[in-house]
Amino acid sequence: MTIEIHVAPDAGAAGRLAAEIIRDALRKDPGLVLGVATGGTPRCTYEELVRSAVDLSSATLFLLDEYVGLDGADPRTCRGTIRAQLTGPLGIDDERINAPDVDAVDLSAACARYEADIDDAGGIALQLLGIGRNGHIGFNEPGSSFESLTRLVQLADTTISDNSRFFGSPADVPTHAVTQGIATVLRAGHLLLLANGASKAEVLSAALTGPTTPDVPASALQLHGHVTVIADAEAAARL
Ligand code: PGA
Repeated sequence: MTIEIHVAPDAGAAGRLAAEIIRDALRKDPGLVLGVATGGTPRCTYEELVRSAVDLSSATLFLLDEYVGLDGADPRTCRGTIRAQLTGPLGIDDERINAPDVDAVDLSAACARYEADIDDAGGIALQLLGIGRNGHIGFNEPGSSFESLTRLVQLADTTISDNSRFFGSPADVPTHAVTQGIATVLRAGHLLLLANGASKAEVLSAALTGPTTPDVPASALQLHGHVTVIADAEAAARL
């Protein structure tokens, strides 16, 4: 197990550090296959990438997950969030963002296609991840098998409650999503896990130093050979 842990003084500094790792990967490979996450945590990273006018024009992006049931044009979709926070301001064509087809009639076929799309692109070289208060990565909620692949999942109550800040009320948060599975995430070459704030301290410690168990999906990262964790001081408090 190789987990490199960086503790940054605050979320802004954590974002700058994460952006530097992404820029470095792009310098080595302008055609980087980059897995992108949404939520509150990666915002500072995307702001910094936009501020530094990073060149993503040859990169290929894959979403970590996507809500089911929102209109495709809804800005609260994960695609819409990446478009608003990262690719739009950088002038990157929407076609460079790969996402599972959550509107497909045959959703399981669409999930299998997403797995194949990732493989056809040569695999995700660098995958950004947040961690949920309940230990989820992507929308792999507690109990998710470490063998899981891209699939339809039901969101946990804590996830709906935490994400209601993006939707106005818990009742407006989609109940389901398609997420890369844990095995999908573990296929990426390099995992970059970001965690900010005191609410993540306990679960980050459990994920990185506790037993590897589906009860804490992020603990699967201990099984990967190349993980970088960037936590702000509050999230790192229990490490
Ligand atoms: P957050 O979510 O960045 O909004 O805290 C993290 C996650 O659910 O992965």
